[in-house]
Amino acid sequence: MLNYVHAIPTKVFFGEGQIRRLPEALAAFGKRVLLAYGGGSIKRIGLYDTIMALLHEGGFTVTELSGIEPNPRIESVAEGVRLCKDNDIDVILAVGGGSTIDCSKAIACGVFYEGDDLWQMIVTSGGFSKALPLVDVLTLSATGSEFDGGGVISNMKLNEKLGAGLTFPAVSICDPTYTFTVSPYQTAAGSADIMSHIFEGYFSREDDCELSDGIAETILKTVMKYTPIALQDPENYSARANLMSCSSVACSGIPEYGKEDTGWPCHAMEHELSAFYDITHGVGLAILTPRWMRFILKKDPTALPRFVRFAKNVFGLEGKDDQALAQEAIDRLEAYFRSTGIPMTLKELNIDEKHFEVMADHANRNDRLAHAFVPLTRDDVVEIYRTCL
Ligand code: NZQ
Ligand code: ZN
Repeated sequence: MLNYVHAIPTKVFFGEGQIRRLPEALAAFGKRVLLAYGGGSIKRIGLYDTIMALLHEGGFTVTELSGIEPNPRIESVAEGVRLCKDNDIDVILAVGGGSTIDCSKAIACGVFYEGDDLWQMIVTSGGFSKALPLVDVLTLSATGSEFDGGGVISNMKLNEKLGAGLTFPAVSICDPTYTFTVSPYQTAAGSADIMSHIFEGYFSREDDCELSDGIAETILKTVMKYTPIALQDPENYSARANLMSCSSVACSGIPEYGKEDTGWPCHAMEHELSAFYDITHGVGLAILTPRWMRFILKKDPTALPRFVRFAKNVFGLEGKDDQALAQEAIDRLEAYFRSTGIPMTLKELNIDEKHFEVMADHANRNDRLAHAFVPLTRDDVVEIYRTCL
């Protein structure tokens, strides 16, 4: 078990009705609020009206940034920075999923960025000493952006989508009832994303991190138990609540306590799919994950014991030889993803081989995948993309 340093400064208000804490949470930072949101779902579900009423009652001045895209663009970050500067904003209120929260994190840092090119801020991210305070209201269980300091921003002109260390929310309001309206497609994709955040740390070489592995296995089982329930019965509070708490913990760093950074290979490969084809993050991950698993198991037989643990502790498999157990666990995972109704091949997303080589180069920039659980070369990545066709 390796040394680790961990701090999460975010205060989470979890559960139905916690929105009543919003005025107090914002007032700690000032009265001029930038309200950031996406393409309109918060209006359709009535949350916009609830929030506006609370803000008006509390005497806040509101400036709005709407239309933040899924896979948020650097142009939206720039627009948010401009609005913050022009309106002397005290605090950003992000209402939505990971895209809105990520974009808001970049805006919060961008306000104090001294360079001219905000894309360079993302490229050279990390170590920001100053950011506007950020409060969020989460509406989709997936990324964990509500409980981490990272953000992922896209530059479609360059076909680049980069994760950056930005800033943590000061307060996250996590009310599972706001996710009742999330579509089956986004529910399934979000759950695949939560599971991938676990896989990225679980498949590692440190075998003595029982706490981390136990949390990881519990999250995987919880997501596979409650996603089908949420799909069938979208207003099932227990299902939505369990998925929401899994979302926050899975990407928090807690399930990786004591483990080496693996470079998060499926995320590295998925971000390229999104950068070139603007696909939904969780769908790309669900397509890649079982193929990546089969590839690394074949490439490096020393990976086998981890897969056997996965098979036994997550799927409750037993009684076969190790190789058969591992293969069955991967097959079950793929079948589970398929059962949630999302596309499971790149062809279904109209993606062909055209950009695989350049995507593989990008995915492996700075030798990112050299320290993965099973290190991957550029050719390995191309091969994994091919098996996803
Ligand atoms: O834009 P609106 O109209 O709000 O609609 C959104 C969007 O179309 C909709 N939606 C959200 N809440 C809803 C709802 N629809 C109905 N009812 C609700 N309650 O869902 C669609 C997707 O929203 P988005 O925010 O894009 O989804 P998600 O939360 O999955 O975020 C994805 C982004 O986060 C990044 C991804 O790469 C992607 O850019 N990630 C961020 C991470 C982080 N900050 O730590 C880690 C992740 O690995 C991930 O890379
Ligand atoms: Zn993710």
